[in-house]
Amino acid sequence: MNTNHHQRPGHSRFSRALPLALTALGATLLTGCQQANQTLSIGDMSSGYNREIFWMSVWAIALSIIIFIGVSYALFYTVNKFREDKHDAPPAQFHGNNRLEVILVVVPVIIVVFLSVLTVRSMARLNPTPQNVVNIDILSRQFWWNFAYPEAPAAAGGVVTNGNEIIIPTRQQVALTITSGDVIHGFWAPNIGGQRHALPGTRRTWQVDTDRPGAYQGNCSQLCGASHANMRYKVVALEPERYNTFITAARAYRAPEPAPSSAEARGYTLFMQGKTSTGALSCAACHRVQGTPAAGAAGPDLSFFGTRRTLGAGMWEGERAREMLHEWIKHSPLVKPGSLMPTYDGSEYRVNGKVQKGGVLTDAEIDDVSAYLRSLKLPEEADYWQGTPVIGAQGASAPGESQ
Ligand code: CUA
Repeated sequence: MNTNHHQRPGHSRFSRALPLALTALGATLLTGCQQANQTLSIGDMSSGYNREIFWMSVWAIALSIIIFIGVSYALFYTVNKFREDKHDAPPAQFHGNNRLEVILVVVPVIIVVFLSVLTVRSMARLNPTPQNVVNIDILSRQFWWNFAYPEAPAAAGGVVTNGNEIIIPTRQQVALTITSGDVIHGFWAPNIGGQRHALPGTRRTWQVDTDRPGAYQGNCSQLCGASHANMRYKVVALEPERYNTFITAARAYRAPEPAPSSAEARGYTLFMQGKTSTGALSCAACHRVQGTPAAGAAGPDLSFFGTRRTLGAGMWEGERAREMLHEWIKHSPLVKPGSLMPTYDGSEYRVNGKVQKGGVLTDAEIDDVSAYLRSLKLPEEADYWQGTPVIGAQGASAPGESQ
């Protein structure tokens, strides 16, 4: 990429913007090749939410078409019938025509009432708050998500929580309650229903649902900073029995204890304590791992990291996520703009505008931490990716492909 063009004086705004736009387009196309992209669809009729919105729209659009035809007809009829004629006397005035004025008031009122009834009916149907909803709390932060299950306390303390991958049951209403830890974000997984903004200091609840098991794509839908486009997540919808298996296993889960003097054991120590001699900060200060002393809340929950298929809030998936883990730990802000994770190669990074100097871990030590993270796996029967079809998959992604 030509990085000098913005310094050349005298260039029009357009000539500067064009290469940038082309670069952005090229980057988009390239990304399209590297990643297993998933199509988003508000027309996914597996979701009762989407069906409701669809049929409401059909009525509203049908009414609009009728109004359009009626108004067009009246317009052309009038223009044609009352066109100017030299021999005509001035046309009759209709000021004070009570019948006409009543029609002009009553017809629009009927239209507006009809549209209001349609809207209010849909709103009521989409928020029935039934007794048997599954509640999930969503915390959004720059630039990641935590999905917590308040009705599923964990044996090891806290509640079942997963970062960047939300697991829901099919054929059941799921009540999502969203908040933000910093700026405004937006939760939007269109295949399962409507979006909501995440506002700091506010909790908002709405319901989504789907009848079809599978993995769906979700994105942040509110511009929230440098990595807004890298703030993604997966929605994994499981048949109710499989969902229950997942929840049961997740509640009982305790992070596996590494075998003595294994790579995982060395990784565990670095994860929990960092390395004071080189200024490498501990991971546990910011991340939680269920069943260990790690209880940090400044970053996404890592309890089931080894089961997850995505890395960096959906930046990479599958094999690519595996390959990127080393780079990610080493210098996350370099591979994800605006990431607040410290660096472990001694490079500088920014936290709240302040420049910090990262600590240092050797490549071998980073691999140890990776090994520990990969060992954080749910039991086989609770692996929610196993055999799960990827909905709207384009490109390399194979159904049920796991790390
Ligand atoms: Cu968070 Cu955009």
